[in-house]
Amino acid sequence: MRRRSVARKFSPRWATARAALQSLTRDYLTRRKSIPVPKSRRKWTSSVKILGARQHNLKNIDVELPLGVFTCVTGVSGSGKSTLVHDVLYRNLLRAKGQSSDQEPGACKSITGTHRIGDVVMVDQSPLARTPRSTPILYLGLFDQVRELFAAQPEAMAQGLTAGAFSFNAGNGRCERCSGTGYEKIEMQFLSDLYVRCAECEGKRFQPHVLKVRLHEKSIHDVLELTISEAIHFFAQTGEDCGARISDGLKVLDEVGLGYLRLGQPLNTLSGGESQRLKLVGHLSDASGTRNLFIFDEPTTGLHFDDVAMLLQLFQRLVDRGHSLVVIEHNLEVIKCADWIVDLGPEAGDAGGEVVATGTPEQIAQAEKFAYRKISSRHVLSEVREPLHVIREPRRRRGSHAQIDARDCEVLAYAQDDSES
Ligand SMILES: Nc1ncnc2c1ncn2[C@@H]1O[C@H](COP(=O)(O)OP(=O)(O)OP(=O)(O)O)[C@@H](O)[C@H]1O
Ligand SMILES: [Mg+2]
Ligand SMILES: [Zn+2]
Repeated sequence: MRRRSVARKFSPRWATARAALQSLTRDYLTRRKSIPVPKSRRKWTSSVKILGARQHNLKNIDVELPLGVFTCVTGVSGSGKSTLVHDVLYRNLLRAKGQSSDQEPGACKSITGTHRIGDVVMVDQSPLARTPRSTPILYLGLFDQVRELFAAQPEAMAQGLTAGAFSFNAGNGRCERCSGTGYEKIEMQFLSDLYVRCAECEGKRFQPHVLKVRLHEKSIHDVLELTISEAIHFFAQTGEDCGARISDGLKVLDEVGLGYLRLGQPLNTLSGGESQRLKLVGHLSDASGTRNLFIFDEPTTGLHFDDVAMLLQLFQRLVDRGHSLVVIEHNLEVIKCADWIVDLGPEAGDAGGEVVATGTPEQIAQAEKFAYRKISSRHVLSEVREPLHVIREPRRRRGSHAQIDARDCEVLAYAQDDSES
């Protein structure tokens, strides 16, 4: 009897079933979680108009891109989306705004309405920094305040340390051997460089007398090792105004699901999706009030469904702040959430390069020539009324799993804000 129970505990089948209960992929496969279709589409009144675009395969087309809304540019691969959005729109707008572009703008007669937008910003998944010198807390512009908090501690004052001593990028508080990076580069003659932990500071970046200064029992190194979520609690409980401001400033990262990053994680080690999200957070926390045009070319590349849900929420927040979004996308989950669609096609190369349909996702779903009709855009849009099960859910037994069921079925609060704007 005893043997059997042990065998069951460690059986691979049992392990698989337990793992599956935590699998977000399973939740999307079985449609327990899904990205809901917005209840309404934003209306728009102003736009940017591209007239006579004829770069590459574009057939001398006029395209109107609405402002203050989330627009998706769709169409089969090779239909001309990147040509229209990168070469024609982005590069001409850069030139109109007096910014240099390393490549020649795509050919078109004119673009009108450029004065209606502030900056034009291309957001991709490329790394935010090439060196390990920047980290999330530096990127959010909150590290200066952290350093001031440390400099105000009795131990720092007794030693005569100013905020500058708590910088790992400059000043004389950082470890001299590794210049504050925490590791040393060993150049290998025929192989790529090797990085090893600094023998002097053991990866702690600072000199011992700086590490001796404690803020609520944590050294500056301990603080940089905190995750964003931990740091939000830590700074809130310091009881100082400055601490509360740091805590509030970090919350936006937690809201977009990056609460697990560490304050001191070098930005060049972030994944593509993490980098993209952090860039958007940077724009969300920008208080300048300019209404920008954000451009994305297939931003969901490499993202899990759950990440797509999070990215869509960020998109909606940017638009709610008055910005405009032009997103090239094949992913139907994203397309169905847009306010407006510009569909290029009908096919690739010379057989493409025309505007096939424009309108809201509902209008496009009715259109005769939409490139995605075959993939059944109507199904995607109708799923609110009638969920389309990809894989049937297994029958549930009563009892021990009941609790897990309740947790699994919780509404995906961050998937989409459906409130009318
Ligand atoms: N530099 C170039 N010179 C000549 N033709 C080009 C050039 N760049 C793109 N094209 C052609 O223009 C057409 C449109 O290309 P584009 O990159 O705009 O497609 P796309 O809709 O963005 O496709 P995808 O979804 O695969 O990214 C394609 O037939 C492509 O081969
Ligand atoms: Mg493209
Ligand atoms: Zn060192």
